[in-house]
Amino acid sequence: MFRFLLAVPAIVLLTRFQLASGSFGHLIEGAGEWSARLLIAALCVTPLRMIFRGQHWPLWLFRRRRDLGVAAFLYALLHLAAYALKRGNPGLILADFGSPGIVLGWTAFACMLVPFALSNEAALRRLGTRWKPIQRLVYIAAGAVLAHWIWLKANHLSAFIHFIPLLLLEAYRVWYRFTRQRRHPRGR
Ligand code: HEM
Repeated sequence: MFRFLLAVPAIVLLTRFQLASGSFGHLIEGAGEWSARLLIAALCVTPLRMIFRGQHWPLWLFRRRRDLGVAAFLYALLHLAAYALKRGNPGLILADFGSPGIVLGWTAFACMLVPFALSNEAALRRLGTRWKPIQRLVYIAAGAVLAHWIWLKANHLSAFIHFIPLLLLEAYRVWYRFTRQRRHPRGR
């Protein structure tokens, strides 16, 4: 059921794309925004679990964190496919590497691709604790997505509004760690 819900925006975007007789602009924008939203949602889960400790719903979300991450990557793939089809030729795609906004998009994509490729059970078992630094690439991806969005769009408001919950939750997490460390310094 949860996975079906995650697929609903894609169904709507692809239906609209069909109805608009293949106009790529909205598909690029819609898939990019959904990818960013799901990435943000996946990253909000851990700080929410910390704040609302003892409640049931953060645990429910935590169990679905991997689905959120996988869906974020699949929407990024749709975004990239629509962009590549719109450009229509590898020469034009390569020429776009001259734009910092596009390079930031590729950086975000690469930082999502590695954890996605290694998030299956077999790879997780083999990696053990080495999975943690790989998982942290997703934070670099989020930073690159924010910069990519701001760089490519004249109106920055939407990008900031999307990222505010994550920035607030991460600020809380840092503050909590810092104050706890001051109250209970290690080794004392
Ligand atoms: C793989 C390399 C990527 C390329 C080549 C790329 C390309 C683009 C382009 C050309 C636009 C401008 C669309 C327009 O003005 O019509 C755009 C916007 C955007 N991209 Fe990407 N992108 C990439 C990766 C990503 C990733 C990984 C994400 C999210 C996780 C993302 C999220 C967005 C968002 C949110 C927008 C703004 C959408 C809006 O107009 O509201 N992009 N991207």
